[in-house]
Amino acid sequence: MQIDIITVAPELLDSPFSHSIMKRAQDKGLLSVRCHNLREWAINKHGQVDDYQYGGGAGMVMMSEPLSNAIEHLQQTTTYDDIIYMTPDGETFNQGMANYLSMKGNLLIICGHYKGIDQRIRDLYVTKEISIGDYVLSGGELAAAVVVDAIGRLIPGVLNDETSALLDSFQDNLLAPPVYTRPAEFKGLKIPDILLSGDPVKIEDWRSEQSLQRTKERRPDILRD
Ligand code: ADE
Repeated sequence: MQIDIITVAPELLDSPFSHSIMKRAQDKGLLSVRCHNLREWAINKHGQVDDYQYGGGAGMVMMSEPLSNAIEHLQQTTTYDDIIYMTPDGETFNQGMANYLSMKGNLLIICGHYKGIDQRIRDLYVTKEISIGDYVLSGGELAAAVVVDAIGRLIPGVLNDETSALLDSFQDNLLAPPVYTRPAEFKGLKIPDILLSGDPVKIEDWRSEQSLQRTKERRPDILRD
């Protein structure tokens, strides 16, 4: 899978994809993340990519011309399944959307800044608008990193134990059960006996029950869905 990201702050995206599972995914050739600095398509030698908004009001708007040129430049060599704009007024990201996007071949992600991007770029090019939650970040980069991480780990072959992604919270609309590792007793707290029973069926039943219990207590809304 190839993910291209258009940003005015590529430095913000250096670290999230250079470590751990995202690095491994790229080293294995299963994922390629490329960040493109929008200022390469700036309208003048000062690197201008934003301007005042028509109608007045505080805050700059990212101009259509640099964005359009960047998108069309990338489209010359890549056909995108979706062109995604990260924005707080987009559809709220969830595990279902991560599953859906992980099956795509090529994605282009546009990170907004300031007041956002000129509406005409959304009208002309963007096929999906994603918010990672009901709060406003100072730019779309951290939101894009969240989305790429959630998608990347679902690509087959990225996780060592592939079944572990299937048992994550939110797959099946359930939260994950509690987990324990050694020692069997820590500060007076013992692990549940069932986990030492060696009976895989009973352990699976216990985990399902714990998942259901946890979801009822913490997220009854996803159970109803
Ligand atoms: N840009 C700023 N805030 C955002 C959010 N909550 N989700 C996605 N992109 C954003």
